Amino acid sequence: MQAGVKWFVVLVAALAFVPSAAGAGSDLYGANCISCHGPQGRGIAERGPSLRGVGARAADFYLRTGYMPLGNPHDVPHRSRVRFSKSALAQLVAYVASFGGGPRIPRPEAANGNLADGQERFTEHCAGCHQIGAEGGYLTNAVAPPLDKASAVEIAEAVRTGPYLMPHFSEKQISDGQLNSIIRYVQYAKHPDDRGGWSLGHVGPVPEGLVTWFIAIVLLIGTCAVIGQRIRS
Ligand code: HEC
Ligand code: HEC
Repeated sequence: MQAGVKWFVVLVAALAFVPSAAGAGSDLYGANCISCHGPQGRGIAERGPSLRGVGARAADFYLRTGYMPLGNPHDVPHRSRVRFSKSALAQLVAYVASFGGGPRIPRPEAANGNLADGQERFTEHCAGCHQIGAEGGYLTNAVAPPLDKASAVEIAEAVRTGPYLMPHFSEKQISDGQLNSIIRYVQYAKHPDDRGGWSLGHVGPVPEGLVTWFIAIVLLIGTCAVIGQRIRS
């Protein structure tokens, strides 16, 4: 073989083994997502919604939290083990984003946020479901998870995307600056050193409520006993 031809063969062989980003993304999609979200993310009735226009933002959130892939279309997505390497995840996100121009992955800057403002906004917009200490709470058909595992980017993605039963918040409702403050508060609430009150291991609002009741009952009985003694004496 002539030297030139040899080089040509080597080059072609090398190119054949470099998978293009779209190729790898679409292979991963075909293996893990297509059964519910359909070819090119068009969606399949009763299995999975269309992914056209959801963009890198939703794809990145659902994948980096391990919400997707679901095992069963009727399962409630929740945080679980991420099944993809970093690069595979990025390729999948790029492939889903290529279905149609959706929003990009947000780049929040929590350090620019204001803690007191964040607490106020969190109380107003989020605490109804996630509780004021961000430890999660019970809804009628779902559980609002604790937020201690969510990174800054994930919090921003969740607020803008509104996963599952959570509403999404536009920039009119919560500006990017206010979002930075909320993220700062959520990160602060992860290490609640002196928030006041008892943390009870952050097990959630139900046990705390029960303990409050228990204490209230003891106090009531105590008060009755004291009043009873006074009357008798
Ligand atoms: C067993 C079925 C199933 C599989 C497999 C699955 N999904 Fe989903 N997916 C769903 C369902 C059902 C929802 C709607 C749940 C929700 O709104 O949170 C959903 C929601 C999503 C959303 C949010 C869409 C939106 O409107 O914001 C994204 C993004 C997503 N899936 C990506 C993926 C990717 C990427 C994969 C493959 C790695 C995948 N899914 C695998 C069933 C599935
Ligand atoms: C109506 C109730 C509701 C409100 C209000 C709400 N959320 Fe959520 N949030 C949820 C539910 C339910 C989920 C779980 C979604 C799922 O299972 O797919 C969730 C998930 C999240 C997650 C992902 C956590 C994880 O680790 O899985 C973050 C972060 C989050 N919410 C932040 C916020 C912030 C910040 C606000 C306020 C701006 C807010 N949420 C307002 C109900 C709510």
